[in-house]
Amino acid sequence: MTEFERASAAADLILSRTPLRPTIGVVLGSGLGAFADALSDAIAIPYSQIPHFPESTAIGHAGRLVIGRVAGVAIAAMQGRVHLYEGYSAGEVAFPIRVFERMGIQSVILTNAAGGINENYGQGALVLIRDHINLQGCNPLVGPNDERFGPRFPDMSFAYSKKLRHMAREEAGELGIAQHEGVYVGLLGPSYETPAEIRYLRTIGADLVGMSTIAEVIAARQMSMEVLAISCVTNMAAGILDLVLSHSEVMETGERVGEQFEALLRAIITRMCSPQAD
Ligand code: HPA
Repeated sequence: MTEFERASAAADLILSRTPLRPTIGVVLGSGLGAFADALSDAIAIPYSQIPHFPESTAIGHAGRLVIGRVAGVAIAAMQGRVHLYEGYSAGEVAFPIRVFERMGIQSVILTNAAGGINENYGQGALVLIRDHINLQGCNPLVGPNDERFGPRFPDMSFAYSKKLRHMAREEAGELGIAQHEGVYVGLLGPSYETPAEIRYLRTIGADLVGMSTIAEVIAARQMSMEVLAISCVTNMAAGILDLVLSHSEVMETGERVGEQFEALLRAIITRMCSPQAD
């Protein structure tokens, strides 16, 4: 079975469980999963029931796909994702994005927890990703290319939709949320970075550091999907403050800014589907 057939089979199972036809796919990162609990007309499918879907082992990831409505708009929201550091390949990490596309979804909103490298950010800041640097050492498109997904050599010049970032910035402004944008660098993990690595990453132009998102963006762009990505700065990166980093701090910050984050997501989704969205 090809990846295309596996993604189609997963999409068929999901769509057989709900009359809704989502137009937006959302991936909820560490500590940010609560957004999906507030959807209306919702059904939840554990990843274990979706054929070929990778299952998350990370703490703080519920591991289910919720299909429901936000302000009338049908969305599919992943509560948790898998990561390279769990031992999954980049292709497996990006598989749910393939499934979104096979479901007919053309826009994705990816969220993650990240360390803040840019000292203008504080803990709890929400930052729109403007561009990325892939230091994960892998790419989901390695291997034979299936042209049904898209080209062998997809362009990454405009990976993070300017239009969606503009909308998100305006909605953040309306909600009184500080408007930040930055460059995300993706590393393999799972150890956090050393202070020397953070100094290096700042030098090469990174504002945020994390262990996810990049493979998903690459697959989405190969399929011509539009991408909005938002990081929650759950901690300042190593060496900036005189502190140790911990996963519980990451989770606590995610939960602390949860309400603000959910309000922003709701506003962005409503705006994306309003008639004057273009
Ligand atoms: N580094 C890498 N990934 C992260 C961090 C960090 O400081 N915080 C949350 N995810």
